[in-house]
Amino acid sequence: MHNPEQIWQELQEAAGYIQDRIQDTPEVALILGSALGPLAEEIEDPIKIAYKDVPHMLLSTAPGHAGQFVFGRLAGKRVVAMSGRFHYYEGYEFEALAQPVRLLKLLGVETLVLTNAAGCVRTDWQANDIMVISDHIKFMGASPLRGANIPQLGVRFPDTTEMYTPRLRELALETAEELGQSETTRQGVYFFMPGPQYETPAEIRAVRTLGGDAVGMSTVTEAITAAQCGLPVLGLSLLTNMAAGLSEMTLSEEEVSKSGEESGARMAALLKGILAKL
Ligand code: HPA
Repeated sequence: MHNPEQIWQELQEAAGYIQDRIQDTPEVALILGSALGPLAEEIEDPIKIAYKDVPHMLLSTAPGHAGQFVFGRLAGKRVVAMSGRFHYYEGYEFEALAQPVRLLKLLGVETLVLTNAAGCVRTDWQANDIMVISDHIKFMGASPLRGANIPQLGVRFPDTTEMYTPRLRELALETAEELGQSETTRQGVYFFMPGPQYETPAEIRAVRTLGGDAVGMSTVTEAITAAQCGLPVLGLSLLTNMAAGLSEMTLSEEEVSKSGEESGARMAALLKGILAKL
């Protein structure tokens, strides 16, 4: 396992490499899940930096994830999009998954937007609804903050009461209303499952009993890391499918991506509306 001095040193080398290649400090970072990948193409005056060129950076293997940073402007804001994120199911240890958000913090980002595709656990909601994440449940596996603490990045035992920043959630709901998306925009709890297999129907019943409204395989490590280093977070889930056992459909990556394409445009409009008001 790496020691904290080494992790800190590597993060600074990675940040230095990137800073030498960009003009301005980004205000907002967007980690784009499978549902919102195409949004990176809309970034104006893009400067693209492949993860594989950044010293010490993790490499992305998931399908539909390009594996690059895109710096530029979107909805009038200076942004950096991570086109391609890192998931536990790819084989990374939870502790390794803290890296991207720490790097974004070192780059000077002030707001972190996390997007994902997730399964809908509530029978009073529908596939293709968007969920503003109010909170999460991560019962399985280690914390991304496990191991010796890196004091430059925050305290040993961070508070997570307002991990999904209330002001940003309100802004998201307000924007949804202005865009006429109120009926399809929800707010709720994201329940992390490690994957890569989709859940069983019995697991989904358990998730519901435990308080989950949506279920997915990403996002929580990023939100936890952001909470530690004091980065405000907005989480948006596109509920691409009813979770296992809640519809006749069997789950497949094709179904999830197809649904993501159809409603991804609505989520992209919402996200741009939110960005414009930040
Ligand atoms: N479960 C877990 N992750 C997901 C799902 C799901 O049903 N849909 C999209 N990502």
